[in-house]
Amino acid sequence: MNYQNILTNTQDGIARITINRPSKLNALNIDTIAELHDAFKVANMDRNTKVIVLVGRGEKAFVAGADISEFANFSEEKGQQLAEKGQKLLFDFVDNLSTPVIAAINGFALGGGLELAMACHIRIASDNAKMGLPEVSLGVIPGYGGTQRLPQLVGKGRALEMIMTAGMIDAETAKNYGLVNHVVAQEALIPLAEKIANKIMRNSSVAIAKAIKAVNSGFEAGKNGYKTEVKQFGKSFGTSDFKEGTTAFLEKRTAQFLGE
Ligand code: COA
Repeated sequence: MNYQNILTNTQDGIARITINRPSKLNALNIDTIAELHDAFKVANMDRNTKVIVLVGRGEKAFVAGADISEFANFSEEKGQQLAEKGQKLLFDFVDNLSTPVIAAINGFALGGGLELAMACHIRIASDNAKMGLPEVSLGVIPGYGGTQRLPQLVGKGRALEMIMTAGMIDAETAKNYGLVNHVVAQEALIPLAEKIANKIMRNSSVAIAKAIKAVNSGFEAGKNGYKTEVKQFGKSFGTSDFKEGTTAFLEKRTAQFLGE
C-alpha cells in the first residue's frame, strides 16, 4: 500500500509509524485510519519488528482528533458506521496486536488522538503534550473507544470529568492520573521510546504476545482474565523461547530468544 498520510521506518527491531498530516495537526481521516491499519498489520507480520512506536509529525500534535471536516454532515447511520469501522480497523486492532506498541505523545492528543494513544500498550508524553476528549463540545461523544478505555486507565470519576468538561489536561496531570507512564522534554521523547523498546526486545516476543492477550482478556466482556492467563501460561511451556529462557538462566548466560 502506498501511504499518503503516514511515514514508516524500521530499524534495529523498532518500527516507527509517524502520522504525517502536520498542517491538520495529524487529524485522523478515514484514509489515514486505513493506512495506519495497513502499517500496523505489516509491522506485526514482520519477524524483525519487535516493538512499534507511534508518533505524530511535527512539534505540535500527536493527533488532534478525528477529522471533523469529514464527518460534520454525517447521518446517525453513517456516524455509527464510522465508529464501528474505525474501532475494528484501528483501535481494537492496535490494542490486540501481538507486537507491543508505544505511543509517543508529542503534543496535542485529543479525541480520536487520545483514543488512539489509549489503544496502544504503553504511553509516554513530552512535557508540552495536552490530552483530552473534547467531543461533547462538538455535540458528539467519543466513538473510538474513549468512553471505555479512559475509565479503565484513570478511573470513572476522572474520566467522566474529562469527558463532560471537554477540557484538556497537561502531561504532568496525565502522569498523575496514570494515563501516561513517563513525561520528558520533547527532544527526549523518541530516545525514551527507544530505550523502553530496547528493554522489551531483550525478552521473549512470544511470551510478550501471550501477556498482552492475558491482560486484555481481563477487560473484555464475557472473558475471564484469570482463565486466559492459565491457558497462555500453559502454552508458554510449549515454546522454544521457554526452553531457551529457563536453560539460559540455569546456565547463567543471557537468553537468545528466537521468538518461537
Ligand atoms: N479535524 C480537522 N481539522 C483539524 C482538527 C480536527 N480534529 N484539529 C485541527 N485541525 C486543523 C484546523 O482546522 C486547522 O486547519 P486550517 O489551517 O486548514 O484551518 C489546522 O488543523 C491547525 O489547527 P488550529 O485550530 O488552527 O490550531 P490551534 O493551535 O489554533 O488550535 C487545537 C489547536 C488542537 C486546540 C485546535 O485545532 C482544536 O481544537 N482542534 C480540534 C480538537 C477536537 O475537537 N478534537 C476532537 C475531534 S472529535
